[in-house]
Amino acid sequence: MFSNISSGAVLGIDGYLMTVEIDISPGLPTFSIVGLPDTAVKESKNRVVAAIKNSGFNFPVKRVTVNLAPADIKKEGAAFDLPIALGILFATEQIKVSFRKKYLFLGELSLDGEIKKVKGVLPITLMAKQRGLKGIILPESNKSEAGAVKGIEIISVKNLRETVDFLNEEINLPGFSLNIEEVFQTNSRYDLDFQDVKGQEYAKRALEVSAAGGHNILMIGPPGSGKTMLAKRIPTILPEMTIEESIETTKIYSVKGMMPYNLALIATRSFRSPHHTISDVALIGGGTRPRPGEVSLSHNGVLFLDELPEFHRNVLEVLRQPLEDGMVTISRAAGSLSYPARFMLAAAMNPCPCGFYGDSNRECVCTPFQIQRYMNKISGPLLDRIDIHVEVPALKYNELANKKCGESSLNIRDRIVQARKVQQERFKNHKNVYCNAHMQSKQIKKYCSINKEGEVFLQNAIENLGLSARAYDRILKVARTISDLEKFEDIQSTHIAEAIQYRSLDRNFWMQ
Ligand SMILES: Nc1ncnc2c1ncn2[C@@H]1O[C@H](COP(=O)(O)OP(=O)(O)O)[C@@H](O)[C@H]1O
Ligand SMILES: [Mg+2]
Ligand SMILES: [Zn+2]
Repeated sequence: MFSNISSGAVLGIDGYLMTVEIDISPGLPTFSIVGLPDTAVKESKNRVVAAIKNSGFNFPVKRVTVNLAPADIKKEGAAFDLPIALGILFATEQIKVSFRKKYLFLGELSLDGEIKKVKGVLPITLMAKQRGLKGIILPESNKSEAGAVKGIEIISVKNLRETVDFLNEEINLPGFSLNIEEVFQTNSRYDLDFQDVKGQEYAKRALEVSAAGGHNILMIGPPGSGKTMLAKRIPTILPEMTIEESIETTKIYSVKGMMPYNLALIATRSFRSPHHTISDVALIGGGTRPRPGEVSLSHNGVLFLDELPEFHRNVLEVLRQPLEDGMVTISRAAGSLSYPARFMLAAAMNPCPCGFYGDSNRECVCTPFQIQRYMNKISGPLLDRIDIHVEVPALKYNELANKKCGESSLNIRDRIVQARKVQQERFKNHKNVYCNAHMQSKQIKKYCSINKEGEVFLQNAIENLGLSARAYDRILKVARTISDLEKFEDIQSTHIAEAIQYRSLDRNFWMQ
């Protein structure tokens, strides 16, 4: 007896179709699975046999061979438990009515036949729909995630017995559907708001400029000055996510198995804040069973690196590719795969090892040599990709005691959305350029025209402050964003002046 059943797996963040083939023939009783790594096979066999028996079915006393095709793609076992068990029940005619070939099956079995959550449901459901399948049968706890896909029947099941009863047409299970717009609305709210941050008007303005132009930002200030607090609120002023962005981000969380129960779509921009001891693989992704890393979990959102100089140098080095290309490519023996990773980088650091250089309340105990060594820990190439550096000084008592609320995130976001519209129009014919931060030299020449007065101002500043050519491009990009926020066609000298303020590290402010 032979049967085959559709299932699915993921490669990168895309789903692909799998076929589970089952052959049952007379002979000494054996059970083998081909096409899975050894350890996964052993575990899966145990679960399938136990689940079939404990659900009141018979496991055939024959030669049972299962093949998972295509064989050349490395898979993880658990999600195939359910299709394997169903295939065996079908081949032994314990499922009677003509099998509903139009479904794709996913689910891990526990020993008693309960069906447990699996990874990658969203991309697999999207693929199943594309392939024209009628529906997908999956674990109850994954149904919300699949519900984000329209135009395919979604049936959730609790255990093996229920699934068989459904396939035998003994019970009816309703299809699951979601009102995506409504879900999107509910999920797109943030718990935090910029109005909680007292004072720090200068830093807030710098963050607004960063968010408006998609510029990476570095905040420098003593411990407790509010750097983390500010960074956490960046997502609240970025433009609202589009449904497409939301689906992309959700796919990554789905593949990583990080979708919270009952959450259909991630509709807020991510904020990821990995600790400085993180490894390069955990940061950019990869590993023997490739997984998206923190940069991909930050896709369409914010990656926050707190205590930037404490990160290992090799870890910071690997950030270059995603910062440049908006994605990560992972090479493996069986070809390469890629994960999206377009994020805004926010970083924070103390001005010196003790944290209090330049502080008006506490005295710094570091030697100039220690400070220099601390600064040198951040690699030049990374610093090159950070357009804005901003000092975040400790708050004064009267600012902290002030009861007045700051400006709300929604207000700030309105201005940012306006500035982004200008950029969308500007770059509509450019591939891979969405905002001012992405401009290359050619585009900087084309789009950053400065008025006469501004030109003279910039020239003087460069000469007097000894700014490098590198700094020059960055100043122009940031000045472009500031003039977009102020709705100017040409960059004015005030915009240049503000942009220069955001180059603290070039101005070497703590060595003066
Ligand atoms: N500007 C501010 N407005 C309100 N509270 C603040 C502000 N700055 C700091 N705080 C308070 O101090 C705490 C520590 O701030 P934090 O953001 O962790 O500082 P840092 O990251 O610079 O060390 C915050 O959780 C917050 O309660
Ligand atoms: Mg902090
Ligand atoms: Zn110090």
